[in-house]
Amino acid sequence: MLHSKIVGAGHYLPERVVTNKDLESLMDTSDEWIRERSGIEERRFATFGVDTTANMGTKAARIAIERAGMTPDDIDFIVFATLSPDYYFPGPGVTVQKELGIKTVGALDVRNQCSGFIYGLSVADQFIKTGMYKTILVIGSEIHSNGLDLTTRGRGVSVLFGDGAGAVVLQAEQDTTKGILSTHLHSEGEFSDVLCVKAPGNFKEVKFYPGMLEDFDMIAPVMDGQLVFKNAITRFGEVITEALDANGYKKDDLDMLVVHQANLRICQFLQRQMRLPDEKVYNNIQKYGNTTAATIPIILSELWEQKRIKPNDLYMLAAFGSGFTWASALIRW
Ligand code: ACO
Repeated sequence: MLHSKIVGAGHYLPERVVTNKDLESLMDTSDEWIRERSGIEERRFATFGVDTTANMGTKAARIAIERAGMTPDDIDFIVFATLSPDYYFPGPGVTVQKELGIKTVGALDVRNQCSGFIYGLSVADQFIKTGMYKTILVIGSEIHSNGLDLTTRGRGVSVLFGDGAGAVVLQAEQDTTKGILSTHLHSEGEFSDVLCVKAPGNFKEVKFYPGMLEDFDMIAPVMDGQLVFKNAITRFGEVITEALDANGYKKDDLDMLVVHQANLRICQFLQRQMRLPDEKVYNNIQKYGNTTAATIPIILSELWEQKRIKPNDLYMLAAFGSGFTWASALIRW
């Protein structure tokens, strides 16, 4: 059976930098609180009229395609992961197909929040393994800033999120010792209300109900932060071990751990638990906050730019988020 290999990675970040100090003027918060609890120093916010979820994904995709030494015409299929689409429907996958000028290839939209990119990668990997497609573009892109409650009422969530996009090109690989070795996907819907945005939605008799715009617990993200934190730590550990065990590796075999950037404290806890040295983990939440489905491909693109990815390196990707959903992917470059 074929394997799939990442042959290019790219990312795009909106130009507007929003520091913790900037947020202090919008709500009762402090640079100290945000840094201490989350590690975040600044994030990017999209500019209306310039950035959309789809066009940020397209910009990241163009870079990934160029780094793969390809053109958009080489792409057989598109997978787009986001929780913040431009339209309620259709999803942004088709917009990317139009913006890249690719003929009528399929475009699939994935909505698994922070785990969305790894879920998308896994779907793409299955298509390549079965021989259905040879070259697949996998994108994660988010504009959170447009839907956050940037007042004191929403501060427990809104200080954590930022906007951005990342993309990779996956290609069929004959050498089965290389590429994506395995992916592992999980969910626990029992916790679907713990981190969510509910409205507008069909859980109400009338989707757009009177007073909806003032109903901030429905239209802005709500989160039980401590419950999410505790579950994240447990599930990350489990899904990383699952990927190592499935392939007969130990944590010391890893060259890099790329963990979804939800909170620097979670990433540091995992690093300590796995006893990994600093050079084997990569965190960028300090600069971008939590960019949900975009986080992991942004990191892959930054590592690509810095030429830190070496042939034969063993990479662990892991994510946890709303749903709850969690996932891992083990990659041999
Ligand atoms: N500024 C100042 N004070 C604040 C802020 C803020 N931005 N936000 C909350 N506070 C206050 C609270 O009101 C509370 O005050 P009180 O003690 O007077 O009641 C106090 O700070 C402590 O609040 P907690 O929520 O208990 O703070 P905690 O230490 O749990 O940190 C945090 C909160 C950072 C959200 C943490 O719980 C966390 O990171 N959780 C995990 C997040 C995560 O992993 N999300 C998953 C991915 S997201 C996705 O999938 C879309």
